[in-house]
Amino acid sequence: MTLAAEDFTRWQLAWQDEFKGKTLDLSKWEFEVNAEGGGNNELQYYITNNAQVKDGLLLIEARREHYAGPNGTREAPVEAIPVGEDRAFAVGSEAEGRAQVVVFRLRDGSMRATQALCPHAGGPLADGQLDAAKIVCPLHARAFSFADGTCAEGERIRVHPVRDENGQIVVEI
Ligand code: FES
Repeated sequence: MTLAAEDFTRWQLAWQDEFKGKTLDLSKWEFEVNAEGGGNNELQYYITNNAQVKDGLLLIEARREHYAGPNGTREAPVEAIPVGEDRAFAVGSEAEGRAQVVVFRLRDGSMRATQALCPHAGGPLADGQLDAAKIVCPLHARAFSFADGTCAEGERIRVHPVRDENGQIVVEI
């Protein structure tokens, strides 16, 4: 089918994004976490760690990952997270419900795990500053306690028990 120039005059812009600012506008976009291939055997997860907005562009980084299960279950060795860094993981299943969690590996080697997105306005907690007691959201600096998930402004994040089990990360959801 060929469209003439006048056909386009009847079109109405539904939405657009010029990728201004420093983070993805989560009122327009969402991170699709689909560990079962999305119907086309795709093994990519779309998570906060792989996407960034920079200089008016959306940058999506493809990373080699390792899978341990037929549905794209990730291997999650503790050593996959360098000390002082963090990684986001998709957990759960279509039937049970899915969630994104961030596992932080502190400088002392201990780990913390929380939900991936800030409840205030969707800030990527994986990009926040942290210490042993709290994670500070990079967007508006709410400081969430690792102990109970609360912050002074009233929002709360989910904090998940996390442990090293024979070198593998185990997160309780
Ligand atoms: S989005 Fe996290 S503090 Fe606003």
